[in-house]
Amino acid sequence: MSNFPAFRATLPSMAGKTVVITGTTSGTGNAAATTLAELGAKVLVLNRSSERSTASFTKLTASSPDADLHSVECDLQSFASVRSAAATVAELCPEGVHVLCNNAGVMALADTATGDGFDVQMQTNHLSHFLLTRELMPLLDRAAAATGESRIVNHSSVARMAPSKTLNGDYLSKKGGDLGGDGSKLENMMFRGPRWVRYNQSKLANAAFTAALHNRLQTSGSKVKALVAHPGLANTHLQKTSVTEGGMGSFFTNIFMKFSQPAEDGAMGILSCMCLPGARSGQFYGPGSGAAAFRGRAEPFELESYYDNPATRNLLWAKSEEAIGTAFDL
Ligand SMILES: NC(=O)c1ccc[n+]([C@@H]2O[C@H](COP(=O)([O-])OP(=O)(O)OC[C@H]3O[C@@H](n4cnc5c(N)ncnc54)[C@H](OP(=O)(O)O)[C@@H]3O)[C@@H](O)[C@H]2O)c1
Repeated sequence: MSNFPAFRATLPSMAGKTVVITGTTSGTGNAAATTLAELGAKVLVLNRSSERSTASFTKLTASSPDADLHSVECDLQSFASVRSAAATVAELCPEGVHVLCNNAGVMALADTATGDGFDVQMQTNHLSHFLLTRELMPLLDRAAAATGESRIVNHSSVARMAPSKTLNGDYLSKKGGDLGGDGSKLENMMFRGPRWVRYNQSKLANAAFTAALHNRLQTSGSKVKALVAHPGLANTHLQKTSVTEGGMGSFFTNIFMKFSQPAEDGAMGILSCMCLPGARSGQFYGPGSGAAAFRGRAEPFELESYYDNPATRNLLWAKSEEAIGTAFDL
């Protein structure tokens, strides 16, 4: 049974707010963009160029014909593309940005480097979002100054806590393609091995980034909030991609996905962070904080000490700045 309709009824109007969200061709990002358009927000969707991107934007505009919607090309595998997308957002949003949702992600891909030299999972899931957040910070500050707050929402996973709960700087370094290989067929069938370690590290980085942002924003007296969500286990395109790319076996995946919830239910965490008036900076929304929190309504819990500590926050920040080649001062 879906919890989404009852949750959807609790969301406030988002009229007058400008929202930027990455990865809306399917899954949680698609459900969130559709909902935000219905709630009256100005919505900018950031996707890499593809037929999926064109088709999903056509569907979005058809479902909310009166909404102020913009499609911006952004390939998270390329820092140059992210910088160009941020410049386009600045042109389209002189009013500032009220919500940035760093949603897009990939899972269990092969051990390959992006053109910038980083692990394809870490650059897509975290490093490019770190850069996008840096580039959009003046717009987030502008909206916060005008309306009293703005929000950055990251999308993590239950995978943040597996297997070690310890962020390893190697995965944030220019070592793409040299981070453990692709694993055996058996490992991949069982959701184990190096492809999964790289995914786990990227999802731990999403949580550590939120903790570091929250800490730095609070220290500087900023009105910008930093929040993070996880979708439980949601039936999206993510698993399909991982199967076709060799990162998951279809037999166990089909069994495992019987425990999943619909994609729009998986969007309840990010939508809570983006929309709920009472959501605080430093909160985590998801269907529970445990390793088996797969389904159910998104509830708030506090950031966890295994990434919300000075050593991890500073490691995350220093390695991410090194990767993008620019300081990110708050
Ligand atoms: N589904 C779950 O059970 C689950 C569990 C935990 C966490 N999550 C997280 O939830 C988030 C959303 O995933 P989902 O489950 O909704 O999966 P999804 O349906 O596969 O959506 C992922 C989105 O990310 C986009 N994306 C991938 N690579 C990109 C790139 N280089 N540049 C720009 N966009 C890119 C995809 O666009 P393309 O069409 O271009 O590929 C797609 O729009 C991810 O961060 C994921 O880690 C999901």
